[in-house]
Amino acid sequence: MEQQVLRLPAEQLFQKEIDALIAAEKDPIPTGWRMSPRSVRTYICGGKVKGTVITPKYIGHERLVEIAIATLVTDRALLLIGEPGTAKSWLSEHLTAAINGDSTKVIQGTAGTTEEQIRYSWNYAMLIANGPSPEAMLKSPVFHAMETGSIARMEEISRCASEVQDALISILSEKRISVPELSIEVAAKKGFSVIATANTRDKGVNDMSAALKRRFNIVVLPAPANLDAEMEIVRTRVAQLSAGLDLNAALPEDDTVEKVCTIFRELRKGETLDRSQKVKTPSGVLSTAEAISLLCNSMALAGSFGSGIISEADLAAGLQGAVVKDEDKDNVAWKEYLENVMKKRGARWTGLYRACKELNKV
Ligand SMILES: Nc1ncnc2c1ncn2[C@@H]1O[C@H](COP(=O)(O)OP(=O)(O)O)[C@@H](O)[C@H]1O
Ligand SMILES: [Mg+2]
Repeated sequence: MEQQVLRLPAEQLFQKEIDALIAAEKDPIPTGWRMSPRSVRTYICGGKVKGTVITPKYIGHERLVEIAIATLVTDRALLLIGEPGTAKSWLSEHLTAAINGDSTKVIQGTAGTTEEQIRYSWNYAMLIANGPSPEAMLKSPVFHAMETGSIARMEEISRCASEVQDALISILSEKRISVPELSIEVAAKKGFSVIATANTRDKGVNDMSAALKRRFNIVVLPAPANLDAEMEIVRTRVAQLSAGLDLNAALPEDDTVEKVCTIFRELRKGETLDRSQKVKTPSGVLSTAEAISLLCNSMALAGSFGSGIISEADLAAGLQGAVVKDEDKDNVAWKEYLENVMKKRGARWTGLYRACKELNKV
């Protein structure tokens, strides 16, 4: 049955690794946790325990991961901030998977998120029939986390209206929720915390108040520092993702990964890697996450309609879709990049240039 599910939560997908880490535990375990901070770090950054290989989940500064884990040991909440696609959600899911064995207590922040979704609401049929009772209560993930002494996740917190953010302030500072309808107050058990994520691109939509920021330890997740780092992330994640899908295609060669990452980095930064030439930046987000999905899409094209090896045409189709998001402006930026940068790069790039050009004819 497991094979039928499109996406398993991290704790199920990596259950073997988590079990191995728990079995080999030697260090003290914080209250409410399933493993020590050291083991959580190994789970996130990779390593080996007693013959079991722990695959790296987050690739980047180990120190950032340590700071994030250490925050959760204290009673402060953790806020992961960064550009889109810098693995904020990814890291938050894996932290909760390792610490609690449960990454599913999530609230997705949107403009429509209500205070009830952070606290609790009611099964109205039961409420009307029998009046307020514990059975008629619908507890939010945060409520559950408080009761069980575990970690709740709050995605895209800066998209929520300010009254919703305020509701979270009171929970984070008082560590209790009162339910006046039942005349009870639920105090958070030890181990309760919140990991929130916020996108720097959403800044200004609903700026987080200083009061809310003060309740979090903030960890900024950076975009990969250089081409090699980005290539490693992409290579690793494409291999992991495609293993779970029936793509019938070979993994992209290093040369292909390098080309995609180079193009993405240059368009993102607005200049060539050697900094000799400025280029126009398209409107879309060209994050590491997009590079990963572009390559998986190219593998799907190659596996379904091609030879099973990513061709220049497969890659060009993906690039076009990723870079040109529908506006005329992006088309101009992409065409200029093709003519002024890619075309002049010499033989290694000629095939890809031609394939991209072919798609741009119409
Ligand atoms: N440094 C990184 N290490 C591992 N995976 C990464 C890294 N950066 C991006 N990714 C990948 O990018 C994808 C998207 O990340 P996600 O957590 O959704 O981004 P966001 O920061 O927007 O929440 C994930 O599949 C993740 O594996
Ligand atoms: Mg996210």
